[in-house]
Amino acid sequence: MKLTFEEYLYESFGPLTDSRIKESAMYSLMAPGKRIRPLLLLAVLKDYGCNPEIGLDAAAALEMVHTYSLIHDDLPAMDDDDYRRGRLTNHKMFDEATAILAGDALLTQAFAQIVSSQLSGDIKIQLIGELADSAGGEGMILGQIRDIEAEDQAIGWDQLLMIYLLKTGKLLATALVMGAIIARRSSDVALWRRIGENLGLAFQIQDDILDVTKSTEELGKTANSDIVNHKSTAITHLGLKAAKEKMILIYQDVLDDLKEISLNGSEVRNIIELCSNRQI
Ligand code: IPE
Ligand code: IPE
Ligand code: MG
Ligand code: MG
Ligand code: MG
Repeated sequence: MKLTFEEYLYESFGPLTDSRIKESAMYSLMAPGKRIRPLLLLAVLKDYGCNPEIGLDAAAALEMVHTYSLIHDDLPAMDDDDYRRGRLTNHKMFDEATAILAGDALLTQAFAQIVSSQLSGDIKIQLIGELADSAGGEGMILGQIRDIEAEDQAIGWDQLLMIYLLKTGKLLATALVMGAIIARRSSDVALWRRIGENLGLAFQIQDDILDVTKSTEELGKTANSDIVNHKSTAITHLGLKAAKEKMILIYQDVLDDLKEISLNGSEVRNIIELCSNRQI
């Protein structure tokens, strides 16, 4: 039977022993996220003419890491937000200790998911290394601490872009790169990385714009969170109008760069275009 990504994701975490941690992890994992990172990975495989089913474990792993990052990002010690993916944040629904541990379980399960896949050993090792690098202390986590340190600080535009590259661009780039690794197209990896990192910049600038232009109900997550937390954002730097212009320019660069990779389809392009028009 062919499973949809949602069903696959459910099945990947579902068989673990029933516990409060599993309940809490599943609460956030199965909440309606946009699934951009797994969709990008599967789209790379489709555009190369590969069967996307071979990438489902890696796609689920990406969504687990991303969901963990959101649970921790919302904690009182970080952005202290009450809503996420249309529901109460994990620590509001459960409690802080449970939310921290659910995040830990999702992060760890992501690597187990890749290990248990049917992919060949050399590919698994490359995927694990790629995911560890982008999500870890030289990647997303470094971006998250720099983001917190920049609260109430005057930082430069280049510093802000570096934070965005780290906290958002690294994992988005890894989604594309993992697709190329699974398709054994190592010669395209550098280009995919550049495309993904720039996509991350545009995506995060857009996230900042949505934070100040949409309501909590529309977003499904707490609006004006950046203002309350005195974050340095694209809006505080450029103002809303110039931030929008910058975002459009970067999305255009991303779509131009994509033309450099020889592909059989336009799935990745379609997802990037959908992202650029997103309202949540
Ligand atoms: C939110 O990511 C956090 C950022 C990196 C901007 P998404 O906008 O992809 O959130 P979900 O997965 O759809 O909830
Ligand atoms: C979060 O950036 C990036 C992560 C690595 C989770 P934000 O703090 O702006 O994300 P949201 O707005 O809470 O989704
Ligand atoms: Mg944050
Ligand atoms: Mg946040
Ligand atoms: Mg945000």
